Amino acid sequence: MRTTRIVEMLEVTEAAALAAGRWMGKGDKHAADDAAVEAMRTAFNQVGMDGTIVIGEGERDEAPMLFIGEKVGCGGEPIDIAVDPLEGTNLTAYGQPNSLAVLAFGPNGSLLHAPDTYMNKVAVGPAAADAVHIDLSPTENIRNVAKALKRPVEDLVVCILDRDRHRDLIAEVRAAGARIRLISDGDVFGAVATAIEGTGIHLYLGIGAAPEGVLACAAMKCIGGCFMGRFAWRNEEERQRAITMGTPHIDGILEMDTLVNTDEAAFIATGVTDGELLRGVKYFGQGSRTHSIAMENSTGTVRFVETVHRAGAEKFWVRRD
Ligand code: FBP
Repeated sequence: MRTTRIVEMLEVTEAAALAAGRWMGKGDKHAADDAAVEAMRTAFNQVGMDGTIVIGEGERDEAPMLFIGEKVGCGGEPIDIAVDPLEGTNLTAYGQPNSLAVLAFGPNGSLLHAPDTYMNKVAVGPAAADAVHIDLSPTENIRNVAKALKRPVEDLVVCILDRDRHRDLIAEVRAAGARIRLISDGDVFGAVATAIEGTGIHLYLGIGAAPEGVLACAAMKCIGGCFMGRFAWRNEEERQRAITMGTPHIDGILEMDTLVNTDEAAFIATGVTDGELLRGVKYFGQGSRTHSIAMENSTGTVRFVETVHRAGAEKFWVRRD
């Protein structure tokens, strides 16, 4: 993968974050999301590529922009793109931590077209990558990760989405002796944080959105961590629809290579609100500042990028109202 491609795509998540950040704390998650989507799409269309959105804002009839199958870019190399222009819309709307503008990309056909359902997920950083499995119990995974990280279970922090469906999971993690970082939204952050020292998160467990699973898996692939999943269908109708659409591994294990079938994946995220992984967008008189992470599998690089955007020189339209 060319490094220039990484910089071009970095500008895309920066544009989305700069637009969404204006809506921080304003209580309007749809406006925040719309701003991110519009800015991301405008930015994509300046990139020399033949991009296809394989994970986006929904199907064509429900999303005016960045819908699944939409072509983006102004011509060039064919690539598949997964996006979440604003991961954690509520986090932005209520000024809470860790909302991100996110994308992942790879060669055509490399990213699983995950349907709009849930996925049971486990994620862990490189040091414990061989220690977890989606079919092990939370207690077993916790013990294995503690052993791999050479620390007592009591020193582990497990990140879990705060949802009723996780009541038993939370009880089991507590009983196992680990500590918990409950998050109200944003499980791409939760999974990726396990691989970044200093976030204080060692293991991610639980059920979240399936498309976000592909994004998180791309990151874990780039960074050498582990991500595994299994679709968690909300009902039989949803499951049958996925079968009709040809979704593979309907009830089976979703290994990393199933979710992201390439060694040339890249993952980029820009912080919208402040968090343990990234700082949020800052606006000041003379411009704005963004903080991003860019990972590339083929070069084995993880870059933290701080960008100052001079006022008046913005490349992309930033919505202010
Ligand atoms: P948004 O779509 O509002 O950004 O929410 C994202 C998210 O919190 C994901 O991180 C997570 O996977 C999913 O929603 C959880 O879904 P639910 O809120 O239905 O439990």
